[in-house]
Amino acid sequence: MLLKLAKIVGVLCIASVHTLAQECSEPIKPEQYVGTPFEHFLPPSINSEVTFFKVRDPIGEFACESDDDSRANLSLLNYMSLDTRNQRHNPSTLMRAVIVVHGLNRDPWNYHAATVQALAKASAQDPTKNLDTVAVMAPYFPNGDDKGFAYPWDDEGQDLAGRAHSPALVWWTSAWSAGAVNNYPPRTRSVSSFAVLDQVVQWFGDRQRFPSMQQIVVAGHSLGGQMVQRYAAVGRKAREELGVEVPVDYWVGDPNSLVWLNETRPLPVESCPEYDHYREGFASYAAYGADHTGIEMNYNFALVDAGSEAIIENFQSKSVHWARATRDLGDHPGSECGAYTQGKDRNERFFAFVRQFPPACESALSCDTVDFVDASHDAPSLFGDESGLARLFHDNFYGRGQFAPDFGYPRQTEHDNPHPNVGRLGEALLGADDGVYAGGMRYKGCWSDVDRAQTERTLPELVYDGPENSRSFCTRKCVEDGYKVAAVGGSSCYCGSMVGRQAVEVPPSSCTARCPGDGGQVCGGDTRLSVFSQDILV
Ligand SMILES: *[C@@H]1O[C@H](CO)[C@@H](O)[C@H](O)[C@H]1NC(C)=O
Ligand SMILES: *[C@@H]1O[C@H](CO)[C@@H](O)[C@H](O)[C@H]1NC(C)=O
Repeated sequence: MLLKLAKIVGVLCIASVHTLAQECSEPIKPEQYVGTPFEHFLPPSINSEVTFFKVRDPIGEFACESDDDSRANLSLLNYMSLDTRNQRHNPSTLMRAVIVVHGLNRDPWNYHAATVQALAKASAQDPTKNLDTVAVMAPYFPNGDDKGFAYPWDDEGQDLAGRAHSPALVWWTSAWSAGAVNNYPPRTRSVSSFAVLDQVVQWFGDRQRFPSMQQIVVAGHSLGGQMVQRYAAVGRKAREELGVEVPVDYWVGDPNSLVWLNETRPLPVESCPEYDHYREGFASYAAYGADHTGIEMNYNFALVDAGSEAIIENFQSKSVHWARATRDLGDHPGSECGAYTQGKDRNERFFAFVRQFPPACESALSCDTVDFVDASHDAPSLFGDESGLARLFHDNFYGRGQFAPDFGYPRQTEHDNPHPNVGRLGEALLGADDGVYAGGMRYKGCWSDVDRAQTERTLPELVYDGPENSRSFCTRKCVEDGYKVAAVGGSSCYCGSMVGRQAVEVPPSSCTARCPGDGGQVCGGDTRLSVFSQDILV
């Protein structure tokens, strides 16, 4: 009840549950530099200092400034940039804030440094973008493996509260990436990592403090990209719900899995009954992380309760900038089975998501973009790419709503071009093949086959497996045998009359294997088939 009452951060806060709802009217005031310092051994990083951001208990119990209850004593470690004279920023010159979330390895110093290095590149292109006008903050979401390094830990402590006695905010394993409440300090387990991002956004978005602020970018790569994608989906709207007039953009680089906005998945779900559980879907949202902290999720329940249409609307109201490294065809080992119902790897999951929930650029305040970068799974390559410089630093720098068009051609699908570069509109999609094969068969794209989600073959008959296989060879063979559909995967040639009911089209980047019988042709890929037919497929 209390939780529902105080769900709008900063509007209402309740001093104590023990005294009868003693309300205080002051808003929650998170603050950079005034968080309680504690001992840590974080490495230094260029153009930055390690600071303590004071986080207010977001459920409103211990939120008032005057409340000096120790339970309100919460500090978030972060790397905060210094200006061009190596001093703390002059608040009146800051025009932009880039908040960059680390990955699985929880190394904010590397992410901060990579972002500052990218800013130096942007500065070389346009000197008005520099450390006097752009603040870079890399928050740290530590876990239990970081004890004694990122926060004090007393092995001699009598109980958990005695061992984890500092005000440092710490989360259980990777639960920070999906908005779970903190695990330490155990006296105050109420701080969703998403509420932390809300408070950072509110701090930078306060024009009383930063009168020239024009744009905030919340960026993350890999597990940090997962966090930002989930935060964009379930996160409160900056203007309407956080009271932040400054536009907030969400930059999502190469997440391993995504939170799907409704229950429909591209690949079969039969072998993964829990496919829709949060973090890959929204079922059991409340329970996420609770098995470890004993505390249920407390972030934006109202939205999740309202269902998928409301979640889709919330996500689509955000400006989401997707960065896809085209050589990153990896998959995090040990992914939840739900991830395999989205696609076999990071690349397919991204394309399946944008096919189901197409990005759109309707206005400067709601403009999604999709950028391809010739890179592997590597954050600095993406930040420093032309597209990274645009999204992180240049776009809407002066608050005039100017955004660079999508980067990274050739396009792969019809769903990945929300803000087209008009100069390249007519170009063929990657992997296009206009050839006419035996019996008038034509290329119908790259399709799934039996994998960790799909159990039934895409085409039933294996008619050939050997060194002569190619697109020309297999289509000829299938036509000779009286079939209408052909598919090649490496040395295998399959025929049938229609593709199986579990098969789905996947991006052309999943089919890049050279045909053994013709090195100039492509024959599917790992668990993927290049499909040909005389007419319709299904
Ligand atoms: C906050 O924590 C610090 C460090 O543990 C402690 O010195 C300080 O007294 C605490 N403040 C309050 C209000 O509890
Ligand atoms: C999920 O969204 C897709 C695309 O908007 C739609 O086709 C599908 O029917 C939706 N599924 C459910 C269960 O609402």
